[in-house]
Amino acid sequence: MKKTARSHINIALIKYWGKKDKTLNLPLTSSVSLTLDQFYTTTTVEYKKGLTEDHLYIDGRFITGDELKRVSNFMDEIRKRYNIPYYALIDSYNYVPKKAGIASSSSAFSALALAATEAFGVHLSQKELSSLARLGSGSASRSIISGFAIWHEGDSHESSYAESFYDYNDVAVIIAFVDKNEKKVGSRDAMNILTDFPELKNEWITLTNDHLERIKLGFINQDFNIIGTTLESHAIKMHELIEKTGITYLTDKSREIIQYTHALREKGYPVYVSMDAGPNVKIFTKKSSIKDVLPLYQKITEVVVCNKGKGAYLI
Ligand code: PMV
Repeated sequence: MKKTARSHINIALIKYWGKKDKTLNLPLTSSVSLTLDQFYTTTTVEYKKGLTEDHLYIDGRFITGDELKRVSNFMDEIRKRYNIPYYALIDSYNYVPKKAGIASSSSAFSALALAATEAFGVHLSQKELSSLARLGSGSASRSIISGFAIWHEGDSHESSYAESFYDYNDVAVIIAFVDKNEKKVGSRDAMNILTDFPELKNEWITLTNDHLERIKLGFINQDFNIIGTTLESHAIKMHELIEKTGITYLTDKSREIIQYTHALREKGYPVYVSMDAGPNVKIFTKKSSIKDVLPLYQKITEVVVCNKGKGAYLI
């Protein structure tokens, strides 16, 4: 009754921002992501007969309060769905270069979904596992999948899941660190504010569906320029939207790196930015261009290069 699973973080090219169903964690739109190789979570779940509640350790620390509650609620969901009568000892480690301030809920909940089912001998298909991970954290549905993934918005638990998307081989992501502290407003709370802005919400749905169609064409035609310009305008639009709802994640330093990227692009480098619910900037580029591009970013900030990563697996 004990299993260990590993899962990597993913970064969205077409973002998930806002829910149409909070209980099932159904997103307003579909989204597209790339699972990365450098950052991951390793989680062991052991069901124990004597326990009267879940015991959670993250990076060796015993966890109580809201963080435990979120994980225990997710475990309750798993227990209910698969008739598991035991509480668990959960031991989770986040492997990130130093303390990176990179969101780890995608890797955390996908590793937990896999370990918590397998520890009780429940073998799910990739699709079922992705739907399950979604209940813990929306973006976790995509970390089940290797490389590029699409999370179909769906309209039920079963139809909202991620699967492999089109591929593009010559890709790498440079993470440019801006601030390693914990973000002030988590994505979960921040995106819920969108329900107070119905017009913005509708505009966002139309825009995202549009960007999704455009990026698909980029992949079908293997056109990095279309993929890059689309993911960049999408990220920038998401931050404009978030700012209209009263939250700002980007700092002056983030904006400086965005400007720097635009200047490099004018000089012919294939570099495009994306930012999530925090100030760090992720630069999508070609793997074949890393040798030219990396030193240019190393000059201005601390960076880590990521390649395509694997989906969740047992170890
Ligand atoms: O899965 P959550 O609740 O951590 O939300 C993820 C939100 C973004 O990272 C900003 C976008 C995305 O699609 O990953």
